[in-house]
Parts: sequence; C-alpha cells; structure tokens
Amino acid sequence: MVSYPKDVFSRMFAGSHKTSQDLLYPKVEEANIDFEEVDEALRTNIFNVMLGRRSQRKFDETKPVEDSKMEMIFAAADTAPTAGGFQGFEIFNVKRDEIKVKLVEAANKQPYVNAPVVLVFCMNPERVRMNFPQDILKKFSLQDATLAAAYAQLAAHALGLSSIWIGMIDEIKVMNALETKYTPSSILCLGYPRKILQPKSKRSLIGLIHEI
Ligand SMILES: Cc1cc2nc3c(=O)[nH]c(=O)nc-3n(C[C@H](O)[C@H](O)[C@H](O)COP(=O)(O)O)c2cc1C
Repeated sequence: MVSYPKDVFSRMFAGSHKTSQDLLYPKVEEANIDFEEVDEALRTNIFNVMLGRRSQRKFDETKPVEDSKMEMIFAAADTAPTAGGFQGFEIFNVKRDEIKVKLVEAANKQPYVNAPVVLVFCMNPERVRMNFPQDILKKFSLQDATLAAAYAQLAAHALGLSSIWIGMIDEIKVMNALETKYTPSSILCLGYPRKILQPKSKRSLIGLIHEI
C-alpha cells in the first residue's frame, strides 16, 4: 500500500477514531473497499485523467457506484480552493428517484440527468464571511461551487467513472426539487460508462492563448 498523508486518508475514509455522527459512509472496516483500486487511483497521474476525460451521457444502470468511490469524490471536491477558505458551496447527493425525475424536468428535459449518481453543486454565499459587497460574495460562491464540481468530475474519472456536466438548468425548478434556499450552479451526473469514449479534439493552443 502507498503511504497517504494521514489527514487526507482520514477524510476519504472515516477512521475508527470518528464517532458515528461524523460519518457520511461506513467506517473503513465496515465498508467493502477494494484497497488495490484505491491505491491505483491515488497513484493516478492527473494529466492522464485530464487528457482522457470525455463527457458521457450513457451510463451502465446495472453497475452502482460504490460508497467508497463517492467518499473519495467528495473528499476530492473538498480539496478545491475556495474564496477565503470559507467553502462557500454545498453539494446535494440526490438519491431519490422522484427528485431525479424533477431534475430532468429542471434541466430542459435532458433524460441523462436521471443518472446513477446525481450531484447538485450549489452556492452558499452566507458561508463566505468576507467584508466585500454582496455581489462579490455571490461571485465567489459561484466560483467555489464550480471548482468543487470540476474537482469532483476529475476525481470521478480517476476512479473509472464517467460524467456529464449539466449547466442548462432552471435554477428555481432545481431549488424547488431540492427544497433548498441554495442557488444551484451545476449538476454533475456520474456513473460507469456503457462504452468508453475517446476525448474530443480541441482548438489549437495558438488560437486559445493570447500572449500579450
Ligand atoms: C458550463 C457547462 C455547461 C454544460 N451544460 C451541459 C448541458 O446542459 N447538457 C449537456 O449535455 N452537456 C453540458 N455540458 C457538457 C459539454 O457539452 C461538454 O463538456 C462539451 O461538449 C465538451 O465535451 P467534453 O466534455 O467531452 O470535452 C456543459 C459543460 C459545461 C462546462
């Protein structure tokens, strides 16, 4: 087994020192964790993940995503930088089918929003306790939520999952579906892919980078 920085490891898997109130998922010894797979994921080169990622809209409905992978994805999302370190975002892990159906409707009827894992990233500007105007705090929380979703997306790919980022959402409908006061920034749908897709080609760096 590779040696992990201790705190990272304990955030990914609830250690036995934690009380049951701290636990999102079962304790290490109770969870069915494939440690070889975890080791492999932790050794992943980030460039391989970035260069191999491709949006996926067809998920294998017969293969559920393991709780241990979800825990790693959430821990990865929580490593993202946030404005002032205030973590101005919230994540909703939508498990109930009736809410997923409402989110399909809220996302312009995109059917693949009804995915094995549906995460809604929301802004929480109230957490950003900085002495700046309200619109700046809102902007910070939007960036916090977006970065967290991007980190979660990359982590998911490092774990052999695929994803689709959903930005075409009706904010009010999403808030009603979640019964929350938090404004959503994006929905990240995850699952095992039915078929591995090759990454899309992008415009050349010469057109993208403006050296001035
Ligand atoms: C801000 C943003 C909004 C997006 N919204 C949607 C969406 O509502 N529905 C969808 O199917 N894909 C959506 N996507 C995914 C893009 O279509 C996809 O990333 C793009 O086609 C590039 O493909 P790739 O991710 O495979 O590189 C969105 C991506 C981003 C970053």
